[in-house]
Amino acid sequence: MGSLEGTSALVTGGGSGIGLACARRLAADGARVTVCGRTEAKLKRTGLPYAVADVTDEDAIAAAVEQAARDAPLRAVVHSAGGSTSIGPIQGLDADAWRRTFELNATGTMLTLKHAARRMARDGGGAFVAISSIASSNTHRWFGAYGPSKAAVDHLVRLAADELGGAGVRVNGIRPGLVRTELVAGIADAGPILDDYLACMPISRTGEPEDIAEAARFLAGPESSWITGQVINVDGGHHLRRGPDYRAMFEPMFGPEALRGAPEAPREDPEAPRGGLEAQRGGPEELCGGLEALHGGLEALHEDTEAQRGDAEALRRGSEALRGEAP
Ligand SMILES: NC(=O)c1ccc[n+]([C@@H]2O[C@H](COP(=O)([O-])OP(=O)(O)OC[C@H]3O[C@@H](n4cnc5c(N)ncnc54)[C@H](OP(=O)(O)O)[C@@H]3O)[C@@H](O)[C@H]2O)c1
Repeated sequence: MGSLEGTSALVTGGGSGIGLACARRLAADGARVTVCGRTEAKLKRTGLPYAVADVTDEDAIAAAVEQAARDAPLRAVVHSAGGSTSIGPIQGLDADAWRRTFELNATGTMLTLKHAARRMARDGGGAFVAISSIASSNTHRWFGAYGPSKAAVDHLVRLAADELGGAGVRVNGIRPGLVRTELVAGIADAGPILDDYLACMPISRTGEPEDIAEAARFLAGPESSWITGQVINVDGGHHLRRGPDYRAMFEPMFGPEALRGAPEAPREDPEAPRGGLEAQRGGPEELCGGLEALHGGLEALHEDTEAQRGDAEALRRGSEALRGEAP
């Protein structure tokens, strides 16, 4: 019999990646786990009870909490829903994309915590685990609102832990490093950005969702009953060094000058296509598709590398031919 038998749990963002691994881990120990997210098809595929809810919609997340707590006391909530629509150098950040990212990561965590804490306090106590990011503690240049919004999550964890201990509600968080999920598909597979990540990790491998799920299971369960207000890095030790170098991806998108923080030169021809920071100001739809844009950038980078490989191959063949012709 698992140690979470007779309890219920809610995992937001539980339809995929880290959230799904957390849901499976809690279920394996006997919890009745409800997963939530915005896409029903994804949630259905998990085979677990689910609630369709956007974590930025207060009524929807409040209903999801109540649904999760229907058949057994709610003892654990893992809040994994998160992401970003904000990227690029600070001087060109799109304010709407910034706000949307704060809304998802900071406000979404607050709303889930607010309703989970009410319910868990009524049920005799429980544990809330927020999935933050290493980007909250180590600067990730050109990641826009993502790091600052996750830093807000870290502070909320400490604030809520301080307020809610008396109600028997523990609040902790996890800062994952690079974990192989859809969110970072492409980046975690190969290339100079992955190489840089690995060079920054004392335990030099990418994380798997299960690495995070083990920590979440510990923080959600009775084994950690005297721990609250902690945000644990689960990142192969990456936080001991520096944030990753995404120059190879962002330079083709924004240009080297913009990445150096250099002021823009006045445009001689106002009709000419916009570039660098100006292109970024063109609005979220144009450039700030967040991580989707990152993926696009990475693919372009791979194509460039392939093209360079092709050029090098042609050069090699050319010089061999020349050598063959030399007297
Ligand atoms: N993978 C990494 O390397 C990494 C590193 C550090 C931190 N993290 C954090 O880990 C968490 C999970 O990310 P992941 O890597 O597992 O990526 P993922 O598979 O894309 O998971 C994100 C989940 O959140 C859900 N979601 C997004 N917006 C939502 C909203 N407004 N309301 C409800 N659900 C929402 C998504 O489902 P729907 O789109 O269907 O709603 C999705 O299932 C995120 O908070 C992320 O910031 C990931």
